[in-house]
Order: sequence, then C-alpha cells, then structure tokens
Amino acid sequence: MNRHAAITGWGHAVPTTVVGNTFFESQVETTDEWIVERTGIRERRIAEPEETTAGLASAAADAILRRAGVAAASLDLIVIATATPEQTVPQTAAFVADALGVHCGALDLGAGCAGFVYGLVVGASAIAGGTFERVLVVGAETLSRIVDPADRATAILFGDAAAGVLLEASEGPGLLTGDLGVDGSAAGILEVPAGGSRRPASAETVAGREHFVRMQGQEVFRRAVRAVVDSSEIALGRAGVASSDVDWFVPHQANLRIIEAARQRLDIPPERTVVNIERYGNTSAASIPLALSEAAEAGRFADGDTLLLSRFGAGMSWASAVLTWGRPDRKSTRLNSSHR
Ligand code: UT7
Repeated sequence: MNRHAAITGWGHAVPTTVVGNTFFESQVETTDEWIVERTGIRERRIAEPEETTAGLASAAADAILRRAGVAAASLDLIVIATATPEQTVPQTAAFVADALGVHCGALDLGAGCAGFVYGLVVGASAIAGGTFERVLVVGAETLSRIVDPADRATAILFGDAAAGVLLEASEGPGLLTGDLGVDGSAAGILEVPAGGSRRPASAETVAGREHFVRMQGQEVFRRAVRAVVDSSEIALGRAGVASSDVDWFVPHQANLRIIEAARQRLDIPPERTVVNIERYGNTSAASIPLALSEAAEAGRFADGDTLLLSRFGAGMSWASAVLTWGRPDRKSTRLNSSHR
C-alpha cells in the first residue's frame, strides 16, 4: 500500500472567558438577534491578557500528543497556522517547541483562515514523501488582539482558540488528496494593512487603526461560498469520491450562512456537517481543527469514514482535503525511528 499520513491525535485549548452577543450591544450598534440571524454565532471565547497564541497552541499540542499516546520527543516537525503570531520574530512555533521541550523543525504558516488545511496538506505530503514520520499541525489564534472593537462587522465575528492534530505515517487510513489555492488579487478584501514591510508600524498607522483587521464582508462572503464549493469538488475529484459518499463535511466556521450555502451546493446533508460556530465564532486557522477535535472527542467519526475539510480566508486563500478517518496499525507501518 501507498505510504501517506493519518490523524492519530487531536485536541484543542480555548480561553475560559466566554463572551455572549449581548456584550456587544453595549459596545457598538448591534443586537443579539442580528448577530444570530446573520452569522449563527451566539458566543465566543476571548483570551485574557496572559493567554497568548503560543500558550493556547502549546496547551492544544499537549492534548493532541496525550490523545495520540506519543511523546513530544518523537516529533519531526511542528507547523503552527496562525494570522495572529506570538511575535513578528521569532515564529510562534519556536515558543511551542520550547514549551514541549523539543528541538525539531518548527515553522509558522500564514494562509489566513485556510492555514490549518494548508498545514495538513503540506505536513501529510512531507510524510508521504518519506521525509518525516510525525508532524504536529495546530491552528492557533488570538484574533481578539487584532479586531477593532469599534467595528461592528468584525468585532462580533471573531474568537480565540487553538486546535490541531498529529499526523503519522500510515499505510491504511489517512489523507487521500488536497487542493490548495490563492487569488492574491483579492488580498485587500480581508487584511491588516500595517505592521509589515509595506507599511511599517508608526504613530500614523496606530492613529489610523491600521493594525486592526479590515474586511469587505459581503465580498468575502460571495467568494467564500464559491471557493469552498470549487475547491471541495477538486479535492473530491482527485480522491475519486462523490460528494454523496462524504460521511462528514467539516467546513470553516466563518458564518453559518456560508456553511449552509456551500453544504447545499455540494449536496451534503446537515446531519453530516460539523458545526460549532454558535459557541466559538470564527476562530480563523483554529476553526476546522476545533470542529474536528470536538466531533472526534464526541465519537462522531467511525473508522473508515470519509471526511471532507474545506476552508477559505485572507489571501484570498482556499484549501480542501479528503481523508479516511482511523488510526493506522503502528506495528504494521514501517516507521523510521527519528527520535530527538
Ligand atoms: O474567515 C473568513 C473571514 N470572514 C468571513 O468569512 C466573513 C464573511 N462575511 C460575513 O460573514 C458577512 O458579510 C457579515 C457577517 C460580516 C456581514 O453580514 P451581511 O449580511 O453580509 O451584512 P452586510 O455587510 O451586507 O451589511 C448589512 C447591514 C449594513 O447596514 P446598512 O449599510 O444596510 O445600513 C451593515 O452596516 O448590516 C450592518 N451591520 C450590522 N448591523 C448590526 C454590519 N454589522 C452589523 C452588526 N450589527 N454587527
């Protein structure tokens, strides 16, 4: 059988502070009713000052490794997908590696909300190619740090969380195919304008609120549905799987209306679609692994189930993956011993 990568562990870590929709009624001109109707969100988790992206990611990593029954020392690579890194330099993954006490490869992946699935496809490819045996992929965000509290269209939307999976070499279940893409000509519809090379931080950028996220919501919405549907169809086509054979659709949790529109176009029934946006809002790179981790923890996936993961985000980037759920038989999989 072909060597590929399977998910052998999953986990998540979320801030303890829960913020309901009514909080925003006192901050901006909005209502609980509007937020629920237009987004499906009822509450989200917001990080306290001492809760950071690397801290949440490290807690999620601990949970993932515990669930997999694997020691951190045997990791070959840590991938942290994030749009809200711990610092600009060094990479968030360096802090996570330090928290885990390891010196393996560690990189950040910036592909907006699509980052986790990008990481999954890249990590799985490195395993399939024989370079690595075990890759930890975590999506981690503290979006509350870059949301403008005065902007009602974004303040109500985003939440904080970290979640991820462990990928291990497999000759049984695992990742079948992926599809990655970007349309950089649409970069401006979802961006943080300042703080980078193009527009370094200055008194002017701070005064202009340019370090906060800016979004053309309707335009993102329109492109999102198309991107999820097209990319899912490409990934399914490559895997030779019909959408009627998808057991579980795990979409990006950005807006319940986007999930519904994409699900209907892909002809996947609601009872086969994993949704938890009502409790977490849009957690960007953490949203798919958070939905996946909760569903796996609840025992919703059976061995052999076909999962479709699909997401879109800043860039505009999109990413889809098709996989067979289940853990490989570690004894029969020819693993190298690349322990550090
Ligand atoms: O992870 C990827 C990142 N982002 C997304 O996926 C977001 C995609 N977009 C969306 O989810 C939706 O576009 C939003 C939830 C952001 C906005 O919903 P919408 O139904 O597209 O609203 P809209 O932008 O068309 O605005 C309709 C009205 C506007 O008022 P006017 O101009 O008609 O008077 C907005 O100013 O709703 C207003 N509005 C609000 N009203 C109450 C916008 N935000 C709010 C709010 N409360 N929080």
